[in-house]
Amino acid sequence: MTEFTEILSHITWWMWVLIVLLIVAIRDIFFQKRHTISHNFPIIGHIRYLFESIGPEIRQYFVANNREELPFNRIERSWIYASAKKENNYEGFGTDRDIYAHQHIFINNAMMPFKIDKNHPNYLDKTFLPCAKVMGLHNKRKKPYRPASIINVSAMSFGSLSAKAVESLNKGVKMAHAYHNTGEGGLSPYHCNGGDVIFHFGTGYFGVRDENGDFSIEKLVDMVEKTPYIRAIEIKLSQGAKPGKGGVLPAAKITKEIANIRHVPLGKDVLSPPNHSAFSNVPEMLEFIEIIAEKTGLPVGIKAAIGKLDQWIELADLMLKTGKGPDFITIDGGEGGTGAAPPSFADHVSLPWVYGFSDVYKLFKDRNLTDRIVFIGSGKLGFPAKAAMAFAMGVDCINVAREAMMSIGCIQAQVCHTNRCPSGVATQSKWLQSGINIPLKSERLAQYFKTFRKELIEITHAAGYEHPCQFQMKDIDVNVDDHNLSEDLNKTYMYEKTAVPFNGIQALKSCGFLGGNHK
Ligand SMILES: Cc1cc2nc3c(=O)[nH]c(=O)nc-3n(C[C@H](O)[C@H](O)[C@H](O)COP(=O)(O)O)c2cc1C
Repeated sequence: MTEFTEILSHITWWMWVLIVLLIVAIRDIFFQKRHTISHNFPIIGHIRYLFESIGPEIRQYFVANNREELPFNRIERSWIYASAKKENNYEGFGTDRDIYAHQHIFINNAMMPFKIDKNHPNYLDKTFLPCAKVMGLHNKRKKPYRPASIINVSAMSFGSLSAKAVESLNKGVKMAHAYHNTGEGGLSPYHCNGGDVIFHFGTGYFGVRDENGDFSIEKLVDMVEKTPYIRAIEIKLSQGAKPGKGGVLPAAKITKEIANIRHVPLGKDVLSPPNHSAFSNVPEMLEFIEIIAEKTGLPVGIKAAIGKLDQWIELADLMLKTGKGPDFITIDGGEGGTGAAPPSFADHVSLPWVYGFSDVYKLFKDRNLTDRIVFIGSGKLGFPAKAAMAFAMGVDCINVAREAMMSIGCIQAQVCHTNRCPSGVATQSKWLQSGINIPLKSERLAQYFKTFRKELIEITHAAGYEHPCQFQMKDIDVNVDDHNLSEDLNKTYMYEKTAVPFNGIQALKSCGFLGGNHK
């Protein structure tokens, strides 16, 4: 024994390094069978794996230019971070974008901007911007709802997001008078901090399912009665990142808390099928909407990503015939985010937002149905100029998911599907989320929403209007290479938006259905 320790004591540090490298080389060549590169190039082959793993960070921090990255480039992310922190979010020296580029959009400013007087609601509160339409008014629901903010938190469940992130978002929407869409994972205690809530469910009926996994109206009614801040219900048909794709919630990820919230058993994989079991066709879906609205008294809407239009035509025709229909329709773009989706779906299935929205809006407009529906848009619309374009095309509200995540600290690491989100926003790891300071993050979400609304109001005034609902298609141009060729939106997408009935922001402020705890 003493001889052995004697030999060891004579091994110098560089000999130890050589011994370790020798062991790695032996393992690479003779024992590991999974990686050809490390077998063929022992030791140095590992450098390739190291570079591959840190490549995204190197590119993000050092290599990519300000406008290069996707889904959100550095300028966009920095604008959200600075707005959320109430820091200087301006840029100096002029735009760094190629404004002659194909598809660049221009907002046509008025010769003289819209002027507000001292009695105007925006004179005192530069961020007050409620939705110009009321959900459920046309269909005479018992509890109509006017969202008090035109920007709101899009569907993201507790499960895909951490408890602390969900709580920060809910407290933030309360401060910003906005609403918080629960996402598919049921209503968690973290959604219940006083912000308006839109309860959302998909084919898994999480939180409102019976023991067979089918929809239970009794459970929904019970939840709505116990939770007064649920202001509307959204039925998910599909989302842009993975339309028509079901999902599996693996048993390993189902904690006791998640099992209780989602009403699923512990220790068993839970499937969300691609289809709803509560309805199989458009007339049945319409009936389902009516039952929910009747039993809960709340406005009921649908969310979908757009591809084929035949069933949308059927829906619009049926709405015309029956006088019934969803109170709101959320159109998600193919560029939309997700907690996890196969790239083939995320990249290719469903249309980008501008194409999908314009296709669907036209169908309802041609049948004079747009006044009955609150149109919500989602798909990278959380920037004031893009939102102005969306309003010109016909939306009444914007939902944001990833922009909201960034406002509370997401760094676009794009690892939501791995449970290793470094910012603690999209993970269930207790350690990773322990760094989230809820009071600070909720303040940031609220500040992002307020800055967004303030800048959108300023753009609206610059275009000569009081509220973005007044934007028309002709107010926005899309560059098609030369000014003589650049087209107003109405020529590009071939429709005119129906004018939204609007009698001034003061009338919205006095509305009895105004949400967001506005006094
Ligand atoms: C982490 C995460 C979870 C999501 N969960 C849902 C969901 O449960 N249901 C749903 O309809 N959409 C879900 N989405 C999609 C968003 O609600 C939204 O429609 C989409 O990301 C587009 O908005 P964005 O571009 O502002 O992110 C999720 C998105 C993310 C990033």
